[in-house]
This record gives sequence, structure tokens and C-alpha cells, in this order.
Amino acid sequence: MSASSPLTRRALLAAMPGLGAGAALGEPYEAGTLAAAAQASGREFGCAVSAAQLAGDPAFRAAVARECATLTPELDLKWTAVEPHRGELAFAPMDQLIDFARAAGKGVHGHTLIWHRSTPPWAAAALAEPGGWSLVRRRFSAVMSRYGELIGRWDVVNEPIDPDGAGGLRDSPFRRAFGDDYIRRALETARRLAPNAKLLINEFGLDYDDAEDRARRRAFLGLVDRLKSAGAPLDGVGLQAHLHLGKGRLSQRALRDLLHELAARDLFILVTELDVKETDYALAPDRRDALVADLTKSYLDAALEEPKVIGVTTWGLSDRYSWLQVTRADLERRPDAWRDGTSPGANRGLPLDAALRPKAMHEAMMAAFRSAGSKSAGDSII
Ligand code: G3I
Repeated sequence: MSASSPLTRRALLAAMPGLGAGAALGEPYEAGTLAAAAQASGREFGCAVSAAQLAGDPAFRAAVARECATLTPELDLKWTAVEPHRGELAFAPMDQLIDFARAAGKGVHGHTLIWHRSTPPWAAAALAEPGGWSLVRRRFSAVMSRYGELIGRWDVVNEPIDPDGAGGLRDSPFRRAFGDDYIRRALETARRLAPNAKLLINEFGLDYDDAEDRARRRAFLGLVDRLKSAGAPLDGVGLQAHLHLGKGRLSQRALRDLLHELAARDLFILVTELDVKETDYALAPDRRDALVADLTKSYLDAALEEPKVIGVTTWGLSDRYSWLQVTRADLERRPDAWRDGTSPGANRGLPLDAALRPKAMHEAMMAAFRSAGSKSAGDSII
């Protein structure tokens, strides 16, 4: 594929692992949007949203419909959201998100089947009881059967890594109940329930060339190798990419090396939760936006060189709804600032500002997709 012969939206979605089956397909994406730029590079662009944001905010809903090819439920598919009390299934918000996705012709990425932080307390306690795995199977089955028509791709286990844990694995209720093998078992359970779905593990803290992220990358690759040699049905990996201006420059070389290692293991790769935490909120808004955009471009330029990177999702679309907050510590670092009664506003780490206007980060992402397209990075995916 080249920029002069773009894929149709139908062909692109059909070619994306896990997104062909259910997405209703309409006209090509509007020029100047992230969905269109990603499509021209043979990739997809998506963002995380919640049903409440979509329902309560028509302007935001329109921005999501315009900019995104895929949606990731930020909250509504998590176990805590779907089954806060044992046996009482609460599907309404996720049903609404799915209805919006279907009507707007969006794919949906299934986030997430297992995450230690979104396991309801009743389940965390009950997993270790005899027959505890049946709770995992019931949890998977409840959402995979209900949403499997539109969701063909699942984060089966989210954030399993702790480089200081034995075997590089996090201590979690799942590991305590079922041992290190719980990740392989989870993938096999998901495969049995949805034989055609694409199955991922999703992880954070793999981006920087510091001791912590180096250890996390080693542990992550170690886990992938163990899963592969055990024959686990692992199709892809999600790299969250929560970037942080306080961590300094990104090492593109470290990122490229990780991507090559993952590609060599025959996995597709998704950037699943891209956003940028700022540190100096007293800078002028243009300067803040430029720093965020530069870091984003640096990450994506390296990531999109790798043909196995099939898409990018930002964790939110607009600063209006980012989980990244300006903290008291952020404000206290600049005691000299905002004496005139102004305020720093929201963290500016997403493509659209709080008024839904595209920022420099949006342009940086467009540029990264454009230059990846000219390298025909998407060819080998399709
Ligand atoms: O909606 C309620 C509100 O009614 C209540 O007053 C308020 C009080 O705390 O809580 C609100 O819910 C919060 C919700 O975000 C919406 O803001 C929950 O407490 C809070 O736990 C929830 O946090 C989410 C977190 O996952 C846990 O589910 C974040 O929004 C969401 O961005 C975050 O996403 C995670 C990914 O799943 C995995 N990777 C890291 C990423 C960021 O932490």
C-alpha cells in the first residue's frame, strides 16, 4: 500500500487483528483526522472513552466519532464495573458504549478481562477458594459472549509485570490463587470462549532507558518467552505508553530494540494508552503543548517504524476527561506561579484540549502517521 492508493475503511478494519467482524462500516474518515492519518499509514487510531462521557457530552461524542476508528472502554468493561457485587451483572454502561460504537462504525478493543486493580473485593477474596478458576471463566464468558460480535480483541491480562517480584511477575490475587501459570490459563480460557479473537497482554513502564524501565522490559520479554514456549495462545502485546515529561528524553533506541524483540516473537503490537503527564504547569500554554508534542512525536516516530505496530490508542481524546490530574505536588513545585489568580488548567497530554480544539500533540501524531506512511510501514500488516 502507498499513500496514493489508500485502503478502504472496510479493507483496513477487516485487516486489523480482531476488528473485522463486528464493525459497521461507513464512509472514509474525514481528512485531517487522526483516524484518516492512521489509515493512510495502514494503521488504526483509537481512544479510550467511557459511556458516561459519551452520553453526557454531545460535542465530545462528535469529536470521538470524527477522530477515532476504534474505542477502548476506559472503565465500563472492567470487572469492578460489570460485577461490583457477586452475581449482579451491570451491563448498562458497556451496552451503551457498544451501541454508540456500532452506530458510528467503530471497532472496540476489549479492556480488560483481568487486572488486579479492577478486581472487585468479593472476587479477590473468592479466587483462592476451591474451584476459584470458575469465577475467572464466568467473568470471561459473561463479557466475551455478550460483546464478542463487536469486540474481537482482548487485553486478557493487564499489567502482570513487577520486575522485583519472583519471575518478574506481580503479586496479585490471581497469582496468589493460581500460581504463575494464571496468565497462560487465562489466555487458554479466553481462546476457548472466543476462538477467533486476538488475545493480548498489556503492560506499562516499558518506554524509558532508565534502570526501572529496563528491568520492566526484561521481565516483560521473559514472560512473553515463557508463554510462547508453553504454547499459550498469545497473539499480541499492548504497550501502554503513559509518557512523562519529568522522566526526561525518551530513548528511541531502547524502544526500537523492544519492538524488534517483540516483532521477532511474531506478535502484533498496539500502543494502547498513549498520553503525556506534564511537570511544569507554569510554562506558557504553547510551550507546554510543544513539549508534549515533541515527546509524543519522538515516541511515535520510533514506534511507527516497526511494521508490527498496527495502531495507536490515546488514553482519552481530550484533556477535558483525562485521568491525568494536576496534583498538589505539581502546584507546590512552582510556588511563584499563579499569584495573579489564574490557574494551570488541565494537564495537556491528549490530542484535543479541554475545549476540544486540536493541539500540537494532534499535529505531531498526524505528522508521525504521515511519515510512517511514506515508509509504507503498513505493508506487511495487511
Ligand atoms: O465516577 C466516579 C465518581 O462518581 C466518584 O465520585 C469518584 C470518586 O473517586 O470516582 C469516580 O470513578 C472513578 C473513575 O476512574 C472515573 O473517574 C474511579 O474511582 C477510579 O478508580 C477510576 O479510575 C480509572 C482507573 O483506570 C481504574 O479503573 C481511570 O479513570 C482510568 O483512566 C484508569 O485506566 C487505567 C487502565 O485501565 C490500565 N492502565 C492504566 C490506566 C490509568 O490508570
